[in-house]
Amino acid sequence: MKTLQLSGDRDNDILSAAEVLKKGGLCAIPTETVYGLAADAYNGEAVKKIFEAKGRPQDNPLIVHIADLSTLFELWDFVPEQALRLAQEFWPGPLTMVMKKTAAVPYEVSCGLDTVGVRFPEHPVARRVIELAGVPLAAPSANLSGKPSPTLASHVAEDMQGRIDAILDGGACSVGVESTVVDMTGEVPRVLRPGAVTEEMISEVLGDACTDPAVEGGLKEGQQVRSPGMKYRHYAPESPVSLFCGAPDDTAREILTLPASAVICFDEYKAEFEALGFDCVSIGSSWDHAAHARRIFDALRVSDGGKKIYIQCPRRVGMGAASVNRLMRASGFDSTLCSPYPVIGVTGRSGSGKSYLSRKLGEMLGLAVFDSDMEYKKMLRENGELTKAILKAFPEADAEGRVDRRALGNIVFRDGRKKALLESITHPLVAKAAGEFARARGGAVLDVPLLFESGIDRMCTATLGVYAGEELIFDRICARDCISAEAAKLRLDAQPELKFYFDRCDLMVKNDGDDLNALRKIAEKLIKI
Ligand code: TXA
Ligand code: MG
Repeated sequence: MKTLQLSGDRDNDILSAAEVLKKGGLCAIPTETVYGLAADAYNGEAVKKIFEAKGRPQDNPLIVHIADLSTLFELWDFVPEQALRLAQEFWPGPLTMVMKKTAAVPYEVSCGLDTVGVRFPEHPVARRVIELAGVPLAAPSANLSGKPSPTLASHVAEDMQGRIDAILDGGACSVGVESTVVDMTGEVPRVLRPGAVTEEMISEVLGDACTDPAVEGGLKEGQQVRSPGMKYRHYAPESPVSLFCGAPDDTAREILTLPASAVICFDEYKAEFEALGFDCVSIGSSWDHAAHARRIFDALRVSDGGKKIYIQCPRRVGMGAASVNRLMRASGFDSTLCSPYPVIGVTGRSGSGKSYLSRKLGEMLGLAVFDSDMEYKKMLRENGELTKAILKAFPEADAEGRVDRRALGNIVFRDGRKKALLESITHPLVAKAAGEFARARGGAVLDVPLLFESGIDRMCTATLGVYAGEELIFDRICARDCISAEAAKLRLDAQPELKFYFDRCDLMVKNDGDDLNALRKIAEKLIKI
C-alpha cells in the first residue's frame, strides 16, 4: 500500500485526509497529545483495519474523537452532570472520559465492553479533519503496538509506512503523552491512565477523584483490569530499559556508578554523564514535567541503538505521574529506588505561609522540618565556613569577624552581580546543611524560599508550592515584619511571579488560613517515592 504524505498546513490535504476516512480508509492525524491512527468510528470494517495495521490485541478498545460536544449524546446513553463539568473545564483538550455506550458504537471500537472513551482534541488540524469527515473518529496512538507513541509525523512513518492510507503531518505534539483516561461510570471519577489533566485537577473541579491502583503497579496474576491497555508492556524500545527513581541528585549518582551506556537524563546532569562516556538524551530540567512529557517518547526512540537504556525517572507526583506511568511500562517495571528516605521541598512567595504549612506537613508525616532562613541566620552567627567565605568575598561587611547583615544587605541589594556572588556562596552551603539535616533524621520537610534558585529542589523526592491570595499575603507581611505597605510591595515585586512556582512544583496548595484539608489530601502523595 502506498501511504499518502499530507500536510496539515494545506487545506486541500486536510480535505484529502477526510476523504480517505469517509471511504473507510486509515489516516494518521496529529493531536496535541500524540498522533492518532484514525478511522470512521461508525464503520466497524474500517475500525478492524486499525487493529491489523498496529498489530493491536483485539481486546484493547479505542478512543472516539469528536469535534462538537453534541456528538457525545450519540455515543453515550447517559451524559452525567459531572462529565459535562469536566468537559466545560478541559475540552477541547487531553482528557478522555469513559461512560456506557449507545448502540451507535460498533463492537470493533469497544471490543465488547459496554462503555466507550470519548475525547474532544484541541489540535486545530484534528478538529478540522473530524469536522470534514462528518463522523467521529476512532483512533488509538499511531504506533506499532508495544512501541513508543508517536509525537512527530516521522515517528508515524517509521512504524506505519506502507501499512496505512495516509499520514497527515501537523508538527510536533505539544503535550506529548496520551490523554488522561477517566472512568465516569462510578460515584467518584477514577483515573485509568494519567495524563496532562491530573487527578488533582479533576478533583479540584468535582471535589473528588481517585487513581486506579493498576496505574501505579504492575498487574498481579489474575487481577481484573478496568482499562485493558494497562496490562500490556508498552511504549518499549528494542533495547532493555532500566528506570532509576527518587530525587534527581540520587538517581544521577546511582547511574554514574554504572558502566557507561545510553541514558535519558535531566539537563542538569547531561555534562556529567557525557564526561563519563554515556550517550545522553536529555528531557529538560528535572522539575519540568511538561518538557518530560513532550520529550519522553522521542527520547525512547532516539536512544534505541542496542545499548541498555538507563533513565532518570521524573518525580511521580502531579503531572509527573503521566510520564512515570509510560516509563514504568517501557521498562517492564524494572525500576530501582535510589532515595533512601523522603525529602519534601516546600517553597512559595514570601507571606504565603510556607513555614506554617511546612510544620503542619512535618507533623502529618512524622518528618523533621528544616527552615533554611533560620539555618542561614544561625550559620551567620557562628564563625564557621559560611561566615569565612562571605567575609572573604565582602570585606566591607566584616564586623570584627562577624557578618554585618545590614551592611551586606546594602551591598547586594543594589548590585545584581554582587547578589549573584553572595548566592554562589550561600546556596551550596545551605544545600549542604539541608542534605545533612535530612540524612541525620532519615527524611525531612525542607522549608526553602529559594528552593529552585539554590538547586535544593534536586535533592527532593517531591516539591510543594504554597500560595495564597495576594491581599492576604500583603497583610501578613506588613503585620509579621512590621513594615509599611510600600516596603511590603517592594519585597513582593522582587520575587518571582506565582507562575514560576506553578511551572516548577510537583504540587501546589492554596493556604487560605487555618484550613488544612487541602494539605491533608496531598500529604500522602508527597511522601511516596
Ligand atoms: O491521547 C490519546 O488518548 C491518544 C490520541 C490519539 O487521542 N489516543 C490513545 O489511544 O492513546 P490508545 O488506544 O493508544 O489508548 C487508549 C487507552 C487504552 O489504554 C485503552 O485500554 C483505554 O484507553 N480505553 C479505551 N476505551 C476504554 C474503555 N471503554 N474503558 C476503559 N479503558 C478504555
Ligand atoms: Mg497507545
